[in-house]
Order: sequence, then structure tokens, then C-alpha cells
Amino acid sequence: MEKKPLLALAPMDGVTDFAFRSIVKKHGQVDLLWTEFVSVEALCRGAAPKLISQFDYGPLQKPIIAQIFGKTPEYFYLTTLLLAELAFTGVDINMGCPAKTVAQSGSGAALIAQPQLAQEIIKQAKQAAIDWAEGKSLSDCKNVNPKLLRALKEQKEFWQIKKVKRQVLPVSVKTRLGINKNELKTWLPTLLAVKPDLITLHGRTLKQAYGGRADWQALAEAGAMIKKFDPKIKYFANGDVKNYEEALVKAQLTRADGIMIGRASFGNPFVFLPLAKRQKLAKKSNFFALAIEHAKLFEKHNLLRGRDKFFSMRKHLAWYIKEVPGAAKLRAQLVKTNSASEVEEILANYQAKNE
Ligand SMILES: Cc1cc2nc3c(=O)[nH]c(=O)nc-3n(C[C@H](O)[C@H](O)[C@H](O)COP(=O)(O)O)c2cc1C
Repeated sequence: MEKKPLLALAPMDGVTDFAFRSIVKKHGQVDLLWTEFVSVEALCRGAAPKLISQFDYGPLQKPIIAQIFGKTPEYFYLTTLLLAELAFTGVDINMGCPAKTVAQSGSGAALIAQPQLAQEIIKQAKQAAIDWAEGKSLSDCKNVNPKLLRALKEQKEFWQIKKVKRQVLPVSVKTRLGINKNELKTWLPTLLAVKPDLITLHGRTLKQAYGGRADWQALAEAGAMIKKFDPKIKYFANGDVKNYEEALVKAQLTRADGIMIGRASFGNPFVFLPLAKRQKLAKKSNFFALAIEHAKLFEKHNLLRGRDKFFSMRKHLAWYIKEVPGAAKLRAQLVKTNSASEVEEILANYQAKNE
């Protein structure tokens, strides 16, 4: 029998925050989580105190990989040391984001057009992972912005991160097929030459952004190339996968060690579970319960961090109820909520009227 691939929740900026990851881990029993991405330039140039909460995770979210983006190799070195000290499972470098704010400044998917810089970034992160294992810490580095050091200290205290094992942190890359067309014949060897521990490929180009369909033939060819080069390098494939069964088929097709699912999980953490379980769970009452649990978790995390904005929770609420009769009216109410108790009240009213 084929080995079950690892299933991962794709990193999604503005979506896969602390609360959503907790929900997906608990209800989807996903194997591996990624954080949303964080800019190494912002972290290293003084914004760390503001951004460090992006790296919040609790013991229940492990194993969890921190994703970072940028274009300055030395900042990848420093940030990898930071993430090692925060006891992450791994560090993932984003070389796939097509967003103008990221790619037009030379980061994310734009790095596909900068092979030497991309290699240097991976090398620096890998060197930091080795140096960490051999006893080096962020505070040993020269010219570190004091705000970065302060943020690290406070984050460790906040989450009571004490003794972290000095082991070499895996360094991975998440990227796309190319800039305007499939460039894997040159882009993959560029990456493989510096031996990242894991490569995740989204089967689209930068130009495609999220349009068209992911090219699974290209992802299968990539799997063969990676495994031929070095079977120890892990490979995750990604793009348009809808559920557990499709993930199994796609893993077999591509020889991928793991499949990453993103958008199909919006409002539905059960997509990571086998069909029989999904069918049992696919009841309106379960989605309502999820919406409430998620909203409460979101609020709790906000409180912990001294924030009160409920805004970024609202889209999740709309996703949870998208299949119910009268969804449009219910959505119109939910997207105006400002607290978990309001969500609870609206959903209770709906149920009282509709059952
Ligand atoms: C709203 C949104 C935000 C995203 N943010 C990130 C990100 O921070 N880092 C990243 O590597 N990919 C990001 N992606 C890409 C996803 O990780 C994934 O590669 C893509 O959505 C394709 O997978 P899917 O078809 O399963 O959604 C984002 C995608 C979406 C839709």
C-alpha cells in the first residue's frame, strides 16, 4: 500500500493566523502547519516588536514551520537564528508570492529571476541553522537591531520558551513553476544545488497568480527531478487540491512526500479528513459550532495580545455558512459582527427560526 502523504495547511497571508491554524489542527488533524509570511527586512529594521506576534503558536500547533520573505541574505541569517530560538520546526523561504507589494520589490516569486540571490538566501539560512546547532545565538551577532533582540526576549518570555534543543533547523523553499512560463528545468537545479531540506511547489507561474489551473503534469515532472537528484530532499506539491482523497491521488502522481491545501480549507477544516469522516461531520450545526469556536479563539488570542479588532475574523464566518439556506442574509449579519458573543447570538437566532 502507498504511504499516506503528509497533509499541510498552506500558508495564506491574512487567513492562516493563530486562531485558524488552531481550528485546522484540531478539526482537520493536519500533519503540518505554516505561519503566514513575515518580511525579514521589516523584522530586522525595527518592526519586530510589532510583527513578532505573527510567530505566535501554542504547543498544540507543533509541528509548525515559520515562513519568511525578503531579498536581503544577511536578514535571512538573522531571522533564522531568531526562529530557531523560538523553537520552530523549520524555516520556510517564500519564493512564490506574486503580490505586487512583494514581487515588485524583488522578493517572493521575483527571486525566480534572481537565481544567484535565491541561492545566497538559502545558503545564509542554512548557515544560521548550522551555527545555531553549534551554539550561536542572535545576541552573538554584530549589528543586530536592538528591537529585534528585544522582541525575541519578550516573545520567549511571553510563551515561556525556555530550553530549546540545539539542532539543525530544516530550511525549505516554497515557490512556483516560473515567472512567465514553466522554468523548472533551470529553476529546480538552481534550488537543488544548495540543498534545501524541503521544496514546496505551487503548480502555477508568477504571471498566472491564482488564475487558470495548477499544472500537475509539471508538478509530477518536478517530483521525478527532485527525487532523482536526492531522495532525501522532501517534496510537497500544491495547487487546487480539494480534499483528502484528491491529495492521495496527487501525491502518487507526483511522488510528493506531502500535499499542501490552501483555499479548499476556507470555512472547512474537514477537507483534510477521509470522505467517511467528512460526510459524518458535514452538518450545518457543526459548521455553526466551528464558527463560534473559531470566533472565541480569535477573540482570546486578540485579548492575549491586547488587540480588539474583530475585522479579520469576519471573512471566516462568511465561509463557514456559505452552504446554508439563506446564506446571503446570514452573511450580511455576520460580516458586521464585532465579537464572538454577537456571532453566537446571530447563529442561535437563525437556528431558532429555521429548525
Ligand atoms: C489569501 C491567500 C494568501 C496567501 N498567502 C501566502 C503566503 O503568505 N505564503 C505563501 O507561500 N503562499 C501564500 N499563498 C499561496 C498558497 O499558499 C497556495 O500556494 C495557493 O493558494 C495554492 O494552493 P490552493 O489552490 O490549495 O489554495 C496565499 C494564497 C491565498 C489565496
